[in-house]
Amino acid sequence: MITGKYPNLRLRRSRKYAWSRRLIQENSLSYSDLILPIFLIEGKNKKESIKSMPNVFRYSVDRLNSVIAKAINKGIPMVALFPHTETKKKDEYGSEALNPDNLVCRGIEYIKRKFKNKIGVMCDVALDPYTSHGHDGLLKKNNILNDETVEILTKQAVLQAKMGCDVIAPSDMMDGRIGKIRKALDINNLNDVQILSYAVKFSSSFYGPFRDAVGSKKLLKGDKKTYQMDFRNSDESLREVSLDVKEGADIVMVKPGMPYLDIIKKVKDNFKIPVLAYQVSGEYSLIMNGINKNIINKDSIIESLTSLKRAGANGIVTYFANQIDL
Ligand code: PBG
Repeated sequence: MITGKYPNLRLRRSRKYAWSRRLIQENSLSYSDLILPIFLIEGKNKKESIKSMPNVFRYSVDRLNSVIAKAINKGIPMVALFPHTETKKKDEYGSEALNPDNLVCRGIEYIKRKFKNKIGVMCDVALDPYTSHGHDGLLKKNNILNDETVEILTKQAVLQAKMGCDVIAPSDMMDGRIGKIRKALDINNLNDVQILSYAVKFSSSFYGPFRDAVGSKKLLKGDKKTYQMDFRNSDESLREVSLDVKEGADIVMVKPGMPYLDIIKKVKDNFKIPVLAYQVSGEYSLIMNGINKNIINKDSIIESLTSLKRAGANGIVTYFANQIDL
């Protein structure tokens, strides 16, 4: 119950000093809330800039040391690995996804060998970095095959988990993959490996810079509208989450972030489970370009991240994770 009224009640009173504002703040951001995405590239001693993502780089596995050490120092709980696969290794079936010596597998091994459990490693389960057509699944006559794709994703998940991946994150939006992956992990004695489902992933224009970063942008045939969600929908996100939770997801993700604050809140209000938000590449680059051109100041970063927490996110995947001071 809200009591009192002007002039007895003046809400500006508690805003007058910084200490007082801090005292009554309802949400705050800490490094524990952040997950850092890292792009990997073949080669030795490489740190390559990405045109559409200022201040974000692709690293060769041997250059991961300082990035991970910095993240651990800040108290960031987890990194997410994404490979920039060489075009010659891509094919129609995304076969490279199942190569135990692929970039992501080498990345997992390197981090887990050097840093043990000081930081969590999360990996995408999807075929898009590996397919010659840039889709997350198998493409046949302009159709993305669901069940056939899930079979491959299940193998990809088991492989990554065997390599030491802590959190398996299917980002493909095929139906039924969480249950199949959970079962396969359990059969392989990987019952401690978590599943973070990209349960609510919209078909979004905000993924552009990411596709550039992993090298799938020019290859992508058509769009992903037959498997990723229509951005006009809201209730459908509850159906997606409820299925994935029943199938065994430990955590769910809403993606992108800021254009979907209503969805984060709705999911959190309806399911008392851990919910993460992904501040995607397009959101990152918009803010970063705005800062670089002096259109907005850098406080906009914290504001954008805090809005995701206020909406109900327990944590946020963000390319700003290693760049901000909290
Ligand atoms: C691929 C994947 C995408 C992102 C994460 N995993 C892109 C897509 O679905 O096309 C987007 C991340 C970002 O834009 O930052 N399964």
